[in-house]
Amino acid sequence: MSSPRTRYTHSTPTPDEIRDALGTMVTEAPPAVRPANGATWRRFLVQFRYDLRYKLVFLVTAIFLVWAALQHGPRPRVLHYVWSYGDLVVLPEEDVMSQGAVCLDGTPPGYYLRRGTDKGSKNWIIYLEGGGWCWDVADCSRRSLTDYGSSKYFRWNFPFDGILSNSPAVNPNFYNWNVAMLKYCDGASFAGNRTDVAVHEGKPLYFRGRRILQALLDHLMSHGLDKAQRVILSGVSAGGLAVMLHADYVKTRLPAGVKYHALPDAGFFPDIKNITGHDHIRILYQRSFNMQNCAGGVDADCIKDKTEETQWQCYMAQYAYKYVQTPMFITNSGYDYWSLWFIYNLRCYPEQCPEKREKLQAWHERILSITYQIRKSQKDGIFLPSCYIHSLTSFAYTWTDYLVSGTSLRDAFYKWYTGKTPSVVANYFDEPYPKNPTCPWTMDFYNRVTQRLKAYDFYVE
Ligand SMILES: *[C@@H]1O[C@H](CO)[C@@H](O)[C@H](O)[C@H]1NC(C)=O
Ligand SMILES: *[C@@H]1O[C@H](CO)[C@@H](O)[C@H](O)[C@H]1NC(C)=O
Repeated sequence: MSSPRTRYTHSTPTPDEIRDALGTMVTEAPPAVRPANGATWRRFLVQFRYDLRYKLVFLVTAIFLVWAALQHGPRPRVLHYVWSYGDLVVLPEEDVMSQGAVCLDGTPPGYYLRRGTDKGSKNWIIYLEGGGWCWDVADCSRRSLTDYGSSKYFRWNFPFDGILSNSPAVNPNFYNWNVAMLKYCDGASFAGNRTDVAVHEGKPLYFRGRRILQALLDHLMSHGLDKAQRVILSGVSAGGLAVMLHADYVKTRLPAGVKYHALPDAGFFPDIKNITGHDHIRILYQRSFNMQNCAGGVDADCIKDKTEETQWQCYMAQYAYKYVQTPMFITNSGYDYWSLWFIYNLRCYPEQCPEKREKLQAWHERILSITYQIRKSQKDGIFLPSCYIHSLTSFAYTWTDYLVSGTSLRDAFYKWYTGKTPSVVANYFDEPYPKNPTCPWTMDFYNRVTQRLKAYDFYVE
């Protein structure tokens, strides 16, 4: 075999030849017909450079490959190292029907799982998803047509970032742990336990969050959680509240002797009157609590302590907090945008409504006084930045970039977790707005957040 082509590739070109060839590539138009010999790869590069169709084919192929890789069904494990996410597990119907542990629409609940590796393989983060609440039967019925109320609409995978990330750069302390993110599909922070079935326009609705929590934990216990040495229960928003409501209960379902901590994020929704001085959020929580029979799904010691009229308080962080025995590191913004918008009803960018500046600072002072009990605690830590933000644990930038007293949430939590900072000292409180330079209090950020809040605006009659 001595075709011109093989001869060409074996000969070493002189520097002059290389320069000529490169010069040709830049200046010469592509040949109309593909020649029978010559360096094919170089011809291809020339074609690629001049011919839009080549670029198009390349682009379409690349998009298709990425799209195909992200589709459900078996995927190569290597994607787990490129992109951090969990795979969906939906409980088998026969496991959940006998206990009635079902989502709002009666479908079985589920979770997203990423297995741990190496030294993290016996450690678990159990993460409770957030997503607001539904406030009456019609509202819950609408929710049952979404992934927050039915496993029919669960996606096949879910991106894991922040404390859930598998990147050692973002998440150096927990990147190799098992992660199970429990999907929120009951509309009441995993706290409902109503046995009878509600009906809306002929359609059944189930309020079974507490049984869902139990069924998911049981399932995890038969899939590796029973070998756990360390467990961190975390969760965000409605899931952050759920962490506080169920931290002690979850402990009872875990193997004996496990090292157990909780990290509730953005779950400290305060019982504060709205900006015009009316009770607003507590009325909504009372409705949800009663409708879903949450008295059978929150802390039993708290319920025992209250009268029938005040039991709903066991469903709000500031009242439920003192009954929790689990060591907790509580993180929440002092200017949580969900709470400012929906609870307080302060809906303007601070620089554009100077007349409301006083109200904004009054809010922050109330948050500080409500969380005073945590500051005094011998077992709990707190991280309370003055940022216009909601969730803090589940995004890389909030996990690592917002600093209070020069410390990120990631580092503050880890120092508390390892005992380097004792709980009484682990109090990261911030100056009032607008002093923290690491917070994104820009108009642009405010507008983007506000767009989302408007789109999400929930139904209240
Ligand atoms: C405060 O709450 C009351 C009662 O829900 C409501 O009528 C009023 O409009 C609210 N104020 C604002 C500013 O939204
Ligand atoms: C939930 O309700 C069921 C049925 O009434 C009951 O057996 C169970 O103990 C309740 N769970 C809690 C936590 O109260």
